Amino acid sequence: MSVDWDLLTSHAVEAMSKAYVPYSKFPVGAAAIVDDGRIVVGCNVENASYGLGLCAECSLVSALTMSGGGKLVAFSCVDGNGETLMPCGRCRQLLFEHSAPGMQLLTVSGVKTIDEVIPDAFGPSTLDAFTATDPADNTGCEGCE
Ligand code: THU
Repeated sequence: MSVDWDLLTSHAVEAMSKAYVPYSKFPVGAAAIVDDGRIVVGCNVENASYGLGLCAECSLVSALTMSGGGKLVAFSCVDGNGETLMPCGRCRQLLFEHSAPGMQLLTVSGVKTIDEVIPDAFGPSTLDAFTATDPADNTGCEGCE
C-alpha cells in the first residue's frame, strides 16, 4: 500500500496543536489511516496526577474505537517541532492490538512494520492459544488451580 506520509503527518501536526501538556510541555500528535480509509488522530492529555497522563496514541486508539473501529494500516507521530517521534513501548503495544497485518509506521529510522517495532508481541492470539490448551495442563500457578 502506498501511503501519503506528508499528508498523514500533517494530520499528526494538527492533532499535536491540541495537546494538553502543562506539565511536560512536550506536545505529541498522532495520526493513522484505518483500513476503511478514514483518518483518526490523537494528542497527549496530561494530568496533575502525573502518572495518569494519556499518550497521543491512547487518544488515537480511543478515537478509532469511538468512530467505528477497524484496523490501523499506517501511522505517523510527531513532537512539538513536527519531527517524527518514535512511539513509546507501551504505545507500540496499544497500536499492535489494533493493527492490520503489515501496518506501516513512519519512524525515526524510516518506514517500518508493526512487527519490526514490537517483535514477537504479546497479543490477543497469545490469550487465545492459552485458552485452547487443556485446563488440566495449566498448573503453572496456584491462582490458576
Ligand atoms: N508521549 C506520547 O504522547 N506518546 C509517546 O509515544 C511518547 C510520550 C507523551 C507523554 C507525555 O505527555 C509526554 O509525551 C512526555 O513524556
